[in-house]
Amino acid sequence: MEIPPRPALFDFHGVSMTKYFTENWDNIQDFKARPGDILIASYPKAGNTWVSYILDLLYFSHMSPDRQDSVPLHERVPFLEFYMPGFPSGVDELNKSTIVPRIIKTHLPVQFLPKSIWEQNSKIIYVARNAKDSVVSFFHFDRMNKAEPEPGDWSSFLQRFMDGKMVFGSWYEHVRGWWEKKKSHPNILYLFYEDLIEDTEQGLDKLCSFLGLSPTSELKKQIIEKVLFDNMKNNKMANGSADEVLDFKISPFMRKGKVGDWKNHFTVQQNEQFSEDYDKKMKNTDLQFRTLL
Ligand code: A3P
Repeated sequence: MEIPPRPALFDFHGVSMTKYFTENWDNIQDFKARPGDILIASYPKAGNTWVSYILDLLYFSHMSPDRQDSVPLHERVPFLEFYMPGFPSGVDELNKSTIVPRIIKTHLPVQFLPKSIWEQNSKIIYVARNAKDSVVSFFHFDRMNKAEPEPGDWSSFLQRFMDGKMVFGSWYEHVRGWWEKKKSHPNILYLFYEDLIEDTEQGLDKLCSFLGLSPTSELKKQIIEKVLFDNMKNNKMANGSADEVLDFKISPFMRKGKVGDWKNHFTVQQNEQFSEDYDKKMKNTDLQFRTLL
């Protein structure tokens, strides 16, 4: 399948977006949630794929091994707002899914979520990752993802991130928007990538308690093993290699999986400028991230 030229970024109701996430807008907004649906929401590069895989294993490990061995994760966990000619849209994939529960990926900022998801009181897991590692991961992702706008060089990308001119908008507004929503919405679990790295088993326990699941210790052990970074990286059904728009010659999708890789990218001056700007943008929130473990 011929991939079209990289898309342009434009303002969409106050959020930078590309056509691949806006052209199906009416169908996205009219999306009908079903009882039991579970949403994994995040700003790009926060670990959505990791949590998707954990959830898919938690719910569907008992199914025939075919599901895990032959269906790519991005088909098992459809991407709600994705819409690219030549590929099935996220909404179509979800509408035809017969699986219960449907596990749904989204990068939408909180104000863009379809009404029906709130009406159904669907469980939502929001995954958040510190800004510095997020921008580094996003930069490498945009280099290898032909469905993203051209990233340009690192310093201009960093500036664009600070300006909120990224696909799915401002990181600062995204993480804060969901954080505030969570305060009045018990069906949102706000999970940090850094916590998941530090103690994956504890993260799994948190997920299970939120979802009301009690997996056997054997299943938990298997899941922890399968979702280790290196094991996922070597798993063709979970490492993004089945995704045609990603160019692994430029960078792997499962790139480093670390906290603090930003130290290898930011210059001292970039770090100072970024931190100063960060403090201004985040001064009115009690949301705290760790940038190192
Ligand atoms: P890096 O680029 O820093 O390596 P998303 O799935 O939201 O796009 O996030 C992708 C990021 O999560 C990438 O970060 C990827 O390597 C990391 N990631 C995915 N699975 C992981 C795992 N099992 N352990 C640690 N990090 C993981």
